[in-house]
Amino acid sequence: QHFTAVVPAAGVGKRMRADIPKQYLPLLGKTMLEQTLENLIAHPQISRVVLALHPEDPYFADLPIASQPWLTKVNGGEERADSVLAGLAAIQDEEWVLVHDAARPCLPHQDLDKLLALAGGAVGGILACPVRDTMKLADEHNRVNTSLDRSRMWHALTPQFFPLALLKDSLQQALNANVAITDEASAIEWIGGTVQLVEGNACNIKVTQPVDLMLAEFYLNKLLHNGRS
Ligand code: CTP
Ligand code: MG
Repeated sequence: QHFTAVVPAAGVGKRMRADIPKQYLPLLGKTMLEQTLENLIAHPQISRVVLALHPEDPYFADLPIASQPWLTKVNGGEERADSVLAGLAAIQDEEWVLVHDAARPCLPHQDLDKLLALAGGAVGGILACPVRDTMKLADEHNRVNTSLDRSRMWHALTPQFFPLALLKDSLQQALNANVAITDEASAIEWIGGTVQLVEGNACNIKVTQPVDLMLAEFYLNKLLHNGRS
């Protein structure tokens, strides 16, 4: 079975503090965005990518990957959720859809296999990994309110994988209601849906701060030497 991935890449990468959006920074000889897209399309079950770009993006058109037949471009929006919705609007006649951050170039195919196995089942889900550190909930003065039960806490990663109609619906409803949603799962949760956590590798980092680039280079290099799994 083949699937389409929506890739939001319309952000500006403020926390990276570079002079171009982080998805265009170099990573092992290509841009991070190209590495992310090539890693997705190299998976045997991903046949199409819908890419949400900033409406005034001056960079993408110059990349060798820009004219690939498996790629559809759409204009992204103000927030990540707007960009994802714009991507979903470009997809018809699909039952399930993946959403994956442009800033996560180090996704192992093994993890993607595990996530895609949810297709056709009762609930969609997301890749996630258990937190390692003890978690503290703070008050407004950064004083510890309480320690949380770490054994039940997970980092939400991407890809996130849901039935297309359900995901469109919940994102739209959450946006209409002005709920803050930083991932697809939170929209599903908000309408009362169930989200399965699928344990993935912690190497699937979201490149966010300058130091993450070195980590991504390390992990991606390892992945490429292990046949991407
Ligand atoms: N994204 C998007 N549209 C937006 C905002 C973000 O498509 N309006 C994308 C980013 O390009 C990125 C992914 O969503 O691939 C995850 O967001 P994040 O890591 O927060 O990226 P930025 O928003 O670009 O970074 P920052 O928050 O530091 O500005
Ligand atoms: Mg952001």
